[in-house]
Amino acid sequence: MASGSGIQIPVLILLLFSLPAVIHGWGVDGHLSVCQIAQERLSDAAAAAVKELLPSYADNDLSSLCSWADRIKFRYRWSSELHFINTPDVCNYNYDRDCKDSKGVKGRCVSGAITNYTNQLLTYGNSSADSSYNLTEALLFLSHFMGDIHQPLHVSFASDKGGNTIDVHWYRRKTVLHHVWDDNIIETAEDQFYESNVEEFVDEIKRNITGEWSDQVPKWEKCTNKGVACPDIYASEGITAACDWAYKDVKEDSVLGDDYFLTRLPVVSLRLAQGGVRLAATLNRIFG
Ligand SMILES: *[C@@H]1O[C@H](CO)[C@@H](O)[C@H](O)[C@H]1NC(C)=O
Ligand SMILES: *[C@@H]1O[C@H](CO)[C@@H](O)[C@H](O)[C@H]1NC(C)=O
Ligand SMILES: *[C@@H]1O[C@H](CO)[C@@H](O)[C@H](O)[C@H]1NC(C)=O
Ligand SMILES: *[C@@H]1O[C@H](CO)[C@@H](O)[C@H](O)[C@H]1NC(C)=O
Repeated sequence: MASGSGIQIPVLILLLFSLPAVIHGWGVDGHLSVCQIAQERLSDAAAAAVKELLPSYADNDLSSLCSWADRIKFRYRWSSELHFINTPDVCNYNYDRDCKDSKGVKGRCVSGAITNYTNQLLTYGNSSADSSYNLTEALLFLSHFMGDIHQPLHVSFASDKGGNTIDVHWYRRKTVLHHVWDDNIIETAEDQFYESNVEEFVDEIKRNITGEWSDQVPKWEKCTNKGVACPDIYASEGITAACDWAYKDVKEDSVLGDDYFLTRLPVVSLRLAQGGVRLAATLNRIFG
């Protein structure tokens, strides 16, 4: 080891801890789940379009790039406000009132972004349409945002930045409420029930989609008359779940343990399932 390493490691650790809290959607495993569920449900036409749009290094695996939109947030600063919706601390959502960025520019929220990238993808294969869009990026943004809009704390209160300013303990570890919903619930479930294996978790969600939940799936897939994407429905469900489950019984410095974990895990599984089913349904309508 070089003699400098004694200094470098503490400096690196300091740097890691001083990075600002990043607001992002489901963690890597949550997004991966949504995209894996979706890709298997694609029609032949949608599967072919997705295959063509994915970069070759993705090896036709959409889930491998489902967190791309989080990784480029610093390079594409303009995109960072497209991952969520803030309501004025109320338990309902209204597009005209809530879908805007911090400067008040309308349409700049996760719902507006889903509509935006859906519209771009609708030009796929149309030689007379505007071809200035990068449809690979449109696909990766849409796939990511369809996950984010299903994370309850991505459609939640402005004053606490979607639970990012609420300090809690996840069992014994200090974190913030937002991170509990992005990562901790999923990771603890994987560790306790799925041999620390995200694939096993995803497999059980898929089994429930074709089993337990199969009656509800057509309702999840449905969009309003002739609509291609229906993000406002998902956003309304999101803020309801945030109030009913994420924020409920939580205050600053709450210790969240088994009670919280076991009652919220079904909500997380359901939202991941809905995100995956709806991403597939949307891509099937786009490329249909
Ligand atoms: C729509 O997509 C374009 C291209 O990525 C981007 O510049 C713009 O900010 C997006 N707007 C919204 C509301 O998503
Ligand atoms: C192709 O794009 C052009 C220009 O935007 C539009 O008028 C036309 O309806 C599109 N065709 C199809 C099949 O969507
Ligand atoms: C489209 O976006 C991808 C991902 O950012 C990039 O690798 C690719 O070069 C872009 N394609 C074009 C034609 O700009
Ligand atoms: C699947 O459904 C069963 C039966 O309702 C439930 O006990 C289980 O928690 C569900 N698992 C997931 C991952 O959704």
